[in-house]
Amino acid sequence: MAVIETLKMGHPLLNQVARPVEHFSTQELDALIQDMLDTMAALNGAGLAAPQIGVSLRVVIFGVEANPRYPEVEAVPMTVLINPQITVLDERQEEGWEGCLSVPGMRGLVSRYVRIRYQGFDPQGRSIDREASGFHARVVQHEVDHLDGILYPQRIADLRDFGYESVLFPELTEATEPPEARE
Ligand code: NI
Repeated sequence: MAVIETLKMGHPLLNQVARPVEHFSTQELDALIQDMLDTMAALNGAGLAAPQIGVSLRVVIFGVEANPRYPEVEAVPMTVLINPQITVLDERQEEGWEGCLSVPGMRGLVSRYVRIRYQGFDPQGRSIDREASGFHARVVQHEVDHLDGILYPQRIADLRDFGYESVLFPELTEATEPPEARE
């Protein structure tokens, strides 16, 4: 159990395509996931991908609890998702502001598919197969991008929609930052 320093944009490992997990229910995999959970919790993130803590494997975690202070933030079930596959269920996309623990202090406007199906495995190798929409679908697309070496700034259509969150959203800085702030 440990909080690991996250790699920041510019680190070459974040640009790599991560390898699939081949063995489930192993101490090594459990230790990785525990480190990811500890790190995401410590940084108040909505999601984290293994490459962000320096492990180039196809493992992501995500989850957001409902918070009465931020009724506009949709709850997302806490999930450990291994070897994920995304299927687009609706060609429609919508823009939304994203942040990332590997791009601290910044926000950017990114288009994502509104409705997806995602499949993969839990740490014991059991199948996960869900449909998701809205913020839930956005978080999954953001995290799976990490496994393909893509950070959200690469998906910003107009770089004028990229900036410091303290400037773009001064009301959200410091302790009042909502849970969707960083993935
Ligand atoms: Ni991220």
